[in-house]
Amino acid sequence: MQLFREKDLSLYDGESGSRGLYLSILGQVFDVGKGSKHYGPGGGYHFFAGKDASRAFVTGDFTETGLTDDVSDLTPSQVVALFDWLAFYQRDYEPVGRLIGRYYSENGQPTEALRRVEAALAEGLKLKAEAQTQSKRFPSCNSEWSAATGGRVWCSTASGGVHRDWVGVPRKLFSPGSSRSRCVCVQSSDPTELDNPNLQVYEGCPPLAQSCTIKSF
Ligand code: HEM
Repeated sequence: MQLFREKDLSLYDGESGSRGLYLSILGQVFDVGKGSKHYGPGGGYHFFAGKDASRAFVTGDFTETGLTDDVSDLTPSQVVALFDWLAFYQRDYEPVGRLIGRYYSENGQPTEALRRVEAALAEGLKLKAEAQTQSKRFPSCNSEWSAATGGRVWCSTASGGVHRDWVGVPRKLFSPGSSRSRCVCVQSSDPTELDNPNLQVYEGCPPLAQSCTIKSF
């Protein structure tokens, strides 16, 4: 494992006379020579070569200011997406070292900034797991709208992309602190769910109907 300074890494940009084709993400340097069609001169992602532009992997901002290793303003879920890219490079390319700077110290030790990004990752993974649990518990309804007949929401064993062995009944789900609602399917066999104060029946729809016609979404 080699330690690179920023100016050393910039010599690995794949241009003629350069030392190779490397890039860095969160301070981990990879040899991306076998992806030269992407990262080499003329490639669509040449701007990643010879530097650490971690932020741009999730923002898609490939301008000079966007191509930075500073990810301190990213949301926890963006940080999860950034680590997905890191995992991609670990899987597909050869690691060659660490970049001294924001994420690794002079002797290659993780910095405080790296610890903070890792904490954001942990937070993002927690939020993602909670969202997944929530979407399994309250899968979204199917919905359709027609000018002639108005709207309809209904539940099925795969609505919301959640494959399950129950159909459920449509309810408006209000998120706490918001006046907006969305249609979710609730297991009618579970009386505690039907009493949930964040859930409301659709006006004019029988409480155990699997499909409801509605005036507006
Ligand atoms: C945040 C925005 C984006 C980022 C950071 C990004 C990044 C990348 C990177 C790093 C690669 C090379 C992967 C490798 O080493 O094999 C790649 C490949 C590719 N990207 Fe993107 N990309 C973005 C958006 C897009 C969009 C919007 C499109 C299409 C409209 C696109 C189409 C492609 C294609 C076609 C390839 C080549 C796949 C292959 O030949 O294996 N990318 N992208």
